[in-house]
Amino acid sequence: MKIAVLPGDGIGSEIVAEALKVMAVLDLPFETEHAPVGGTAYELHGNPLPDATLRLAQQADAVLFGAVGDWKFDTLERSLRPEQAILGLRKHMGLFANFRPAICYEELTDASSLKPELVAGLDILIIRELTGDIYFGQPRGRRVSPDGAFKGAEEAFDTMRYSRPEIERIAHVAFQAARKRNKRLTSVDKANVLETFQFWKDVVTEVHAQYPDVALDHMYVDNAAMQLVKAPKRFDVIVTGNMFGDILSDEAAMLTGSIGMLPSASLNAKGQGLYEPSHGSAPDIAGKGIANPLATILSVAMMLKFTLNQPEAAARIEAAVKQVLASGLRTADIWSAGSTRASTREMGDAVVAALAKLSGLKTTIAKTTL
Ligand code: IPM
Ligand code: MG
Repeated sequence: MKIAVLPGDGIGSEIVAEALKVMAVLDLPFETEHAPVGGTAYELHGNPLPDATLRLAQQADAVLFGAVGDWKFDTLERSLRPEQAILGLRKHMGLFANFRPAICYEELTDASSLKPELVAGLDILIIRELTGDIYFGQPRGRRVSPDGAFKGAEEAFDTMRYSRPEIERIAHVAFQAARKRNKRLTSVDKANVLETFQFWKDVVTEVHAQYPDVALDHMYVDNAAMQLVKAPKRFDVIVTGNMFGDILSDEAAMLTGSIGMLPSASLNAKGQGLYEPSHGSAPDIAGKGIANPLATILSVAMMLKFTLNQPEAAARIEAAVKQVLASGLRTADIWSAGSTRASTREMGDAVVAALAKLSGLKTTIAKTTL
């Protein structure tokens, strides 16, 4: 099981270190290799996605990704910015299907900004198309001055487009995912205004004919944004385009208490996957040891399930995380009165300890610290 480990920027290396500790106690034949990515790679090699990093990712079974981005790179020309690394990996590896579950753990119901009864037991899955839409439209070029600012420009534009095969393949993924859950799928669009999304809606409706056992409904994105905070449990699986999926998945993440809890998987047609927390690099808290590593640890569980065919190990990680939460341990983002404050490392150690107990391994924390 070849895993490319790309910690990236900000809190990336801290949270990935905890995920690696968890992997180390699973007793599986992982072969890991690290490479720089994002702002870190730009500072080392002048390129946020060096060829060697891309090659390592392409040759691996799975990529464990931390996060990229830092405000200090905001003035760089767009092609050199850290975000281009993740966009490049998605594009070059063909990672078109992005799974972003939003699950509200019982113990964290109070951490949500919504009333507990609205989010208790919430378990929804957002499937975001990841390699098309306005993110990868043409033309995207513009003339820029060396400091990255628009100088004397009168307009800027990005084009929104989807091709039929791009919509069909994500629709198939979404119907199949819905089939494995509660057989309900909501396709989110903006067909009342945008041609691209009328097309999206029509193609999803056509694909639906092959999944008569799944109930499909369509919703405009503005209404979906509202429904997500009004009655989130009305949803089960949501499928949408790249841009709307970016926005709605952050919104859905917050329903669960903290974006620090949510993993994600980005898959291609070959079954390769990139696994990363749904949150960003949080440069404001980098190096302080307070970031929540659970989203990254749960991303390892997704990796075991989706790419490595180890559902049992994935279930063990999920059970260990639940135990740790039940014990009252909390990082700052999910802390509430009465719970025990944990650092990034302490949270990782607690998951390792819970896992060791679950699997009957006599593994000591010291042995697993990388
Ligand atoms: C995400 C992020 C990325 C995106 C950025 C970092 C390019 O917000 O994965 O949701 O917009 O897709
Ligand atoms: Mg985002």
